[in-house]
Amino acid sequence: MSNTHRSSFSGKIGFVLAAAGSAVGLGNIWRFPYLAAKYGGGIFLLVYLILVVTVGFTLVTAETALGRKTGQSAIGAFSSLSKRWGFLGVLNSVVPIIILPYYCVIGGWVIKYLVTFASGGGSEAAGTGFFTGFVSQPVQPILWLALFLALTLFVVLGGVEKGIEKVSKLMMPALLVLSVIIAVYSITRPGALEGLKYYLLPDFSHFSFMTVIAALGQMFFSLSIAMGILIAYGSYTPKDIDMEKSVKQVELFDTSVAFIAGLMVVPAVFAFSGGDQAALNAGPSLMFETLPKVFDSMGAGNVIGFIFFLLVLFAALTSSIALLEAVAVTFQDRLGWSRRKSTLLSAAGAMVLALPVALGYNVLSGFTLLGFNMLDFFDFVSNSVLMPVAAFLTCIFITRVVGIETVLDEVKLSSPFKRQRSFTIILRYVAPVCTLAIFVSQLLSSLGVISI
Ligand code: PFF
Repeated sequence: MSNTHRSSFSGKIGFVLAAAGSAVGLGNIWRFPYLAAKYGGGIFLLVYLILVVTVGFTLVTAETALGRKTGQSAIGAFSSLSKRWGFLGVLNSVVPIIILPYYCVIGGWVIKYLVTFASGGGSEAAGTGFFTGFVSQPVQPILWLALFLALTLFVVLGGVEKGIEKVSKLMMPALLVLSVIIAVYSITRPGALEGLKYYLLPDFSHFSFMTVIAALGQMFFSLSIAMGILIAYGSYTPKDIDMEKSVKQVELFDTSVAFIAGLMVVPAVFAFSGGDQAALNAGPSLMFETLPKVFDSMGAGNVIGFIFFLLVLFAALTSSIALLEAVAVTFQDRLGWSRRKSTLLSAAGAMVLALPVALGYNVLSGFTLLGFNMLDFFDFVSNSVLMPVAAFLTCIFITRVVGIETVLDEVKLSSPFKRQRSFTIILRYVAPVCTLAIFVSQLLSSLGVISI
């Protein structure tokens, strides 16, 4: 397959940086802690970690190898190996279309908090009811989300991506350091120890099937699996990159950020609410309600809050850029639109789809789909339904259609594949069973046949 018309990552670190930039985002800082709080703390963490080093490693490696082998992004990659399986590329490409709108809603919340801290409103943000007061207004959240989307669009169209990459090379480590400082502070608050135990010690009585479903969905979201991204990044990766090592580095970085975010948020929930179940179940609002309280009690709340949300904004932007590009490239490939036209129309589409998500907290608050509010519904469809299905089919495609050797040979082009045996077993058996089980159980439960 000719590879000449595609740009390539320069330097050995290119793939790792790009994949980590897309991986580390709101998923780690906003989504992971609220799921860990809700689904049993330590047991969720344990299940998540096991999934990352097994199924996660396998799927990330498989997708990257598919991309590098074919030199194409998702749609082309599948159809170039088998005409009949081209639909799988399309399925992968639908996922970012669903994620981008609600990602921008949360990105908008981050900007709102950034501005609030910048203007000295830290104590106000720490007050009960601030978050609810904000999201229950119909217009304001839409303006912030539009700003977040506009920033994303500006970076993608304005050709300032290189600049963003440079800045985020500084910002990402800074985010990590600041998060560690905040986590240490959180853990040492009176009453936080119970929360630390809840987060770190697995309690098997909290285990349920939902723990696995939530952890698997989070893993897909966080590592950007089953959305075509890794295939595209694989296609830009030179053949001499040690793929196994690179994938491990991306996973380590991504998981460390999520782990530390959990340390910042979960013990603090106990310190400020005594760990009552309602607070642990807060869901998407958890970080926004808990962290301002932590910052407020730190003394220099406005400064720390401002820096923190600025760093989170950068992490969120590097991910939303990847999302918008993934969406735009799909239309470019399928419909032959120019890059500019695809990007503009993709952003416009995301804005339209984001409206019901933002309005789901106010005007549409009484409206639910399958019992979910709008944000949770979008999140559920992408992470718990489409991604498991796409991942399941990818396993079948590789092991039954093109043959696992295709992928193994690609990985081994540049270095020995140390985890080949476990990779093979997981790709053949474990990952398909896990992903199929998730999909079937989600389907049956949403139809009311079983309750999980
Ligand atoms: N992995 C990102 C996060 O955890 O925030 C979300 C994401 C970014 C998903 C880019 C998909 C993607 F293409």
